Amino acid sequence: MAKPKRKYVCTECGSVSHRWQGQCPDCAEWNTLVEEAPETKFAAKHDLSSGGRAIIFESLDMPTKPLARTTTGLAEFDRALGGGVVPGSAILMGGEPGIGKSTLLLQAAAAIARAGKDAVYVSGEEATGQVRMRAGRLGLADAPIRLAAATSVRDILTTLADGTPPALLVVDSIQTMHSDMIEGAPGTVSQVRASAFELIRYAKENGVALVLVGHVTKDGNIAGPRVLEHMVDVVMSFEGERSHQYRILRALKNRFGAVDEIGVFAMEGDGLAEVSNPSMLFLSGREEPVAGSAVFPALEGTRPVLVEIQALIVRLQSGATPRRSVVGWESSRLAMLLAVLESRCGLNFSSAEVYLNVAGGYRLSDPAADLAVAAALVSALADKPLPLRSVWFGEVSLSGEIRPVAHSNLRVKESAKLGFDQACGPADDGQSVAKLRYSGISGLMALVDRVM
Ligand code: TYD
Ligand code: MG
Repeated sequence: MAKPKRKYVCTECGSVSHRWQGQCPDCAEWNTLVEEAPETKFAAKHDLSSGGRAIIFESLDMPTKPLARTTTGLAEFDRALGGGVVPGSAILMGGEPGIGKSTLLLQAAAAIARAGKDAVYVSGEEATGQVRMRAGRLGLADAPIRLAAATSVRDILTTLADGTPPALLVVDSIQTMHSDMIEGAPGTVSQVRASAFELIRYAKENGVALVLVGHVTKDGNIAGPRVLEHMVDVVMSFEGERSHQYRILRALKNRFGAVDEIGVFAMEGDGLAEVSNPSMLFLSGREEPVAGSAVFPALEGTRPVLVEIQALIVRLQSGATPRRSVVGWESSRLAMLLAVLESRCGLNFSSAEVYLNVAGGYRLSDPAADLAVAAALVSALADKPLPLRSVWFGEVSLSGEIRPVAHSNLRVKESAKLGFDQACGPADDGQSVAKLRYSGISGLMALVDRVM
């Protein structure tokens, strides 16, 4: 019999190699490949004469029960989830360490418990005393949550099997869980996968809404491993800059709803406060125009959020390699935009350091931000402020054209509502809104002519 092939799995991205290497060929992280037990070999073909049962085909238009959802009472949380948690589903809550995942889930569990439903919170990271102290600080000490500190999946499931299943089960975090069905330390790919698998099966069989907390690595992947993402029904990401107050809860995958709604929270002394009207949050509220600042009407699901983008350009005297530093946007996108500005508009950034910052710790993912970033860059380079009450949006193509973007009417309307009197966007996308002037911008060259 052929020797079973050795298998090495990357703990960062979950990719599989057949020989050990110092660097993962997929995500380029070092020392992340670990050996996993080879899979059992099966006969190449099913024996169809025995063992199989006939499956029944159905049609799409058969009546189905509407999804029952459990609302937590944290409106922003429910909103990001598409209207609450679904019983019998698994949610992965990803986020950087320290961003507020435990706080958010403790608040959600408390809200559910206070509404008379059974909520279980299992912490594998903190002792119950620590969680209780936090609950006290959040003013939730009286919420009838069932709280435990445990890391053994067998212990958790044995305990839960003995009684009515809870409405909500929070496991914080999946990386601390250990299943004795397989070998390996907690946090390894195989342990995370096996623990999650058992917990998810329990949730599905018992109609429990399960939330697994997962820490993410610096590049935004759910750490060790991505495999969890397709095991669960919903993948949520809790984002923000730790040094800033605002946090955004976003669905990256949702089998029960849209993935474009967000929940906005502010981290305060007594926990996460809901922000129900976030459109002004990420503006600095300045009264004087400054060079290098542009306002972008971003769209998060159906909600417009106006964001200030700030650029700073520092000319270098020496021949040192200039820095490009970005907070809140993709650095590859900035590199592209700089290249287009250089090659299509003749601007020169090669001997200058470029710093780009999205105000308030907001992370932009909307491609329509290109024009606003370009406007901030050109304004910083020319040291000329953009008009104070103007907003900018549009996608920039490699040829330097400004392409139309989704929902420009919503963006323009919200800007007008917030007192902006000028919107600059894609040329053939003119939106007429009372009290606001729309200027179509055909290409980056037109932008440069306007600003410089
Ligand atoms: P935490 O929920 O422990 O983060 P995570 O579970 O994602 O690792 O929250 C971490 C930070 O939140 C902590 O550094 C302090 C801050 N915080 C507040 O500012 N106010 C509060 O009321 C609480 C509970 C935490
Ligand atoms: Mg935590």
